[in-house]
Amino acid sequence: MKILIVYAHPNPQSFNHAILEAFTSGLSQGGHTYEVMDLYAVRFNPCLDGGDLAKLTAGKTPEDIRAQQEKVSRAEGIVLIHPVWWTGAPAILKGWVDRVFSMGFAYKFDEKTGHPVGLLKHKKGLVINTAGAGEEDAEASGMTETIHRAEVEGVLKFCGVREAHHVIFYNVIMTNDETRRRYLDEAKRLGEDF
Ligand SMILES: Cc1cc2nc3c(=O)[nH]c(=O)nc-3n(C[C@H](O)[C@H](O)[C@H](O)COP(=O)(O)O)c2cc1C
Repeated sequence: MKILIVYAHPNPQSFNHAILEAFTSGLSQGGHTYEVMDLYAVRFNPCLDGGDLAKLTAGKTPEDIRAQQEKVSRAEGIVLIHPVWWTGAPAILKGWVDRVFSMGFAYKFDEKTGHPVGLLKHKKGLVINTAGAGEEDAEASGMTETIHRAEVEGVLKFCGVREAHHVIFYNVIMTNDETRRRYLDEAKRLGEDF
């Protein structure tokens, strides 16, 4: 499968970057092809402003948004990789979704029923997160559920991605090297089995 990975972490030495490398090496072993959209590396502009909205409403998609939409359309699978920041995605990734998944491209409203209809044709989506919180704390606080609803249900499935999954690697700050290695093995396996 052709997969677009949208990756949001500013530090190439981070654990998230190690997760990205493990996942992409798994993809290659599994016979998949991929493109990585490294949002910090290209300094993606995440701010959906009044000018963007006016152009999008007039049916004139800004060039940088169109380029991203072409990447999305070329892929059969879409993967978001990011650390949990304040129970959600880093602002640069939130802004990528705000700008790129525009109405008419990623979703529309059915003229008869008024219900939203997803327009993306991807067979499969996946969100991979790392979190400082442990699994029990994250579930008790609602963090796990909140991210799942926002990204898996509220973005990927809302926009039509047929099958979407969510993996969170918990406790990454306080855990030991053995667990981190296990997380990297798991990320590689997710790529192989995508
Ligand atoms: C701005 C910021 C906000 C954060 N918010 C959360 C949070 O809401 N929940 C959580 O579990 N961890 C939170 N963390 C911890 C990060 O998830 C953690 O540092 C990251 O997953 C570690 O991966 P890395 O080494 O690749 O950065 C936050 C970290 C930062 C810098």
